[in-house]
Amino acid sequence: MEVRPLHPVFAAELIGADLTNAPDSALVDLVEQAMAQYGVLAIRGAEITDEQQKAFSRAFGPLEIPSRAKDAAPRPQGRRVITPGIFYAGNLDHNGEIIPYGDDAAKLAKGAERFHTDSSFHLMPTKWSLLHGVETPPPSAGGDTWFTDARAAYDDLPQAMKDRIEGLIGVHDFWEGRRRAGLQGEITPQEKRIIPFPEVEHPLVRSVNGSGPNGRKCLYVGGHCIGIKGWGEAEGRELVEELYAHATQEKYIYRHQWKRWDLVIWDNRCTMHAATPLLSDAYRRDMRRTTINESGPETSALEWMIRQGLIAA
Ligand code: SIN
Repeated sequence: MEVRPLHPVFAAELIGADLTNAPDSALVDLVEQAMAQYGVLAIRGAEITDEQQKAFSRAFGPLEIPSRAKDAAPRPQGRRVITPGIFYAGNLDHNGEIIPYGDDAAKLAKGAERFHTDSSFHLMPTKWSLLHGVETPPPSAGGDTWFTDARAAYDDLPQAMKDRIEGLIGVHDFWEGRRRAGLQGEITPQEKRIIPFPEVEHPLVRSVNGSGPNGRKCLYVGGHCIGIKGWGEAEGRELVEELYAHATQEKYIYRHQWKRWDLVIWDNRCTMHAATPLLSDAYRRDMRRTTINESGPETSALEWMIRQGLIAA
């Protein structure tokens, strides 16, 4: 196996890994090391099933299970629900048909087009996500995923800004994040009831491996981060937007153009990512994601927040 860099500051490709069998300790160690160094790792040609994707993911931590309210009836044109444990990030509905532009499910998915870290609206931070391209559009059709390195972005901040933001707490909110990403119209009480996440707080500057020698600091400001704890709304938003604009400059971005059976792993704690729009809804894009929690049990954000008393059961 070999790890080859894909970008001057982060992101690499792992060549020669076979993901069809349960990963052995050599593969687990190699992936952990590569992720600690590069933050994003692409494995091409990973022709695996959903169950194999989950088994591979579980070697690195407990799965975050997609949140589903008890009474959330599947809508005829809602996005696919795959096997429990897989987040659906593609553009197909329950019948495997393309969801047309303009449909509510497609509009909600547009939130992923703003740079974000997965589930930062969750009380419990996530470690990595693993996205699998089961059906991918042709190269010139859009639908790439862009990644930024939030460690390099932090390193390059002027010292005065580093001092200013040290110790600040970011406020993360699912619906407000979606609104800022361009979700049009009122969020209905029904939608709020189905996805009832309250605001949660995370440090604005964090590191992946504690404050030891490997603990490079990074900006934790994805699209769900809407302000700063204890600050006024306008002031908090202004700082968050300034850091977001800094961290999403061209020089920090790796663009992944998908091929069928790519599996791309990213560290949600020190990178951000954004889906790019498909240029037409004539193309199928079937993308399946596992996400693993940094710690704790295998659970959904919803279940965990109910358990912690943040959301009523
Ligand atoms: C995601 O944001 O989790 C999915 C990104 C993509 O579909 O490219």
